[in-house]
Amino acid sequence: MTYQDFAALAYLFSAVLFILSLKGLSSPATARRGNMYGIVGMALAIAVTLANPAVKNYWVIIAGVAIGGAVGVIVALRIAMTAMPQLVAMLHSLVGLAAVFVAKSAFYAPQNYGIVNAAGKIYTGNLVEMFLGDAIGAITFSGSLIAFGKLQGLIGSAPVRFKGQHALNALLGAAIVGMGAYFIVQHGAATFWIVTAISLMLGVTLIIPIGGADMPVIVSMLNSYSGWAAAGIGFTLNNNLLIITGALVGSSGAILSYIMCKAMNRSFWNVLFGGFGTGDSAAPSAAAQAQQRGANVGSVDDAAFLMTQAKDVIFVPGYGMAVSQAQHAVREMAELLHKQGVRVRYAIHPVAGRMPGHMNVLLADANVPYDQVFEMDTINNDFSNCDVAFVIGANDVTNPAAKNPQSPIYGMPILEVERSRSVIFCKRSLGSGYAGVDNELFYKSNTMMLLGDAKNTAESLVRAFKGGH
Ligand code: TAP
Repeated sequence: MTYQDFAALAYLFSAVLFILSLKGLSSPATARRGNMYGIVGMALAIAVTLANPAVKNYWVIIAGVAIGGAVGVIVALRIAMTAMPQLVAMLHSLVGLAAVFVAKSAFYAPQNYGIVNAAGKIYTGNLVEMFLGDAIGAITFSGSLIAFGKLQGLIGSAPVRFKGQHALNALLGAAIVGMGAYFIVQHGAATFWIVTAISLMLGVTLIIPIGGADMPVIVSMLNSYSGWAAAGIGFTLNNNLLIITGALVGSSGAILSYIMCKAMNRSFWNVLFGGFGTGDSAAPSAAAQAQQRGANVGSVDDAAFLMTQAKDVIFVPGYGMAVSQAQHAVREMAELLHKQGVRVRYAIHPVAGRMPGHMNVLLADANVPYDQVFEMDTINNDFSNCDVAFVIGANDVTNPAAKNPQSPIYGMPILEVERSRSVIFCKRSLGSGYAGVDNELFYKSNTMMLLGDAKNTAESLVRAFKGGH
């Protein structure tokens, strides 16, 4: 068996493992196994690539893996769960940059890639691949950097809009296609660099008008771009596994963007061109104003009393639970209630938190049994039979303003907590959520506000349940 045959088989096996990995990652119960498949598939792919007899110098590769791996380990250990979206954006920018570098190196040293004809000219098909990898890679690179800057707060998260913005984007897009076609015909290095420069500009102008609240959708879209850029490189490198993996990343990123848009009842074009969401909480004056409107504010003891009297309690976690890392205390609360004969469940909104599956990951981290965790569609009708909906650090995903056609979040499906006999809202203030829209539920007669940090409050409730408050 030649190396080529062996590599083809091993790559096929890796590709199957990547598909199993994606399948596993689609449910919290199988996510760990899915991750394992991905790790094994990637380790195999790297080992087989390194075994290629064409590899002449291992030291450069070892140095790259050591430096990149060390940075990756440090970042992964230190990153807060809430900062995951910006980390993902940063990593996508590197995939985009890698695509640009590979396209350039293939252009300057085509003989090393075996993509030249007898006359020493690069095949037209390869020029098309290079152009696509370069342009998509450059858009992904600069767009992801802007997304990172917005999410990290390095640049304002508010949408940046100006007159003629869409026309400018269309012009830049047309210029990339035009220059790309010219490059393929003329093979000019300068034209190729112009394509890169315009693509970098387009990455910036495409992402700056998008508000902070929509950034997770954009990160997922850039994820998709980075996949297609990788697939483009796969053609240039003649590497089937890279083509398959790139296509898997490209299509799963696109599907994820679609799912998120659907969960917010927005079209993808509305996210791309809508300029919705500043990413900022409501101004303090808005919260103060709201307080005057007379919300019913309760104490930990009031909440403990309500919950221990209940037969059925549904926890509704949101971004605030993630920020304060309250999931362990929440699980303990739920366990204590369960022991007292209360039926406990968790209701998960698809866009609760700041990234897809955010709440599922946190609850899994706290060892919440999967059979207590329900997606929105499954549990929404049960709120009307439940005694207490305990909303912890969630806001937008419960906000009935989504039913008002005048509201910016109009059409977003919500968790119908208002139908419960009592609603307890655990958050620090009466301020709004990420979309910046006031929540009228805070002022309803069956709502009790339990103001304070989610983790502190949940820990106080645990003490109260144990009788030590
Ligand atoms: P939000 O509506 O952002 O509300 C979170 C609430 O948590 C805030 O109102 C805040 O109120 C509270 N909070 C913050 N820190 C806290 C702490 N330490 N302790 C207790 N409470 C704290 O969150 P949500 O309901 O999860 O909704 C998610 C939002 O993100 C939606 O608008 C959604 O469209 C958007 N979004 C999400 C995604 C994904 S994929 N998840 C994608 C795109 C958009 P206080 O300041 O009063 O404490």
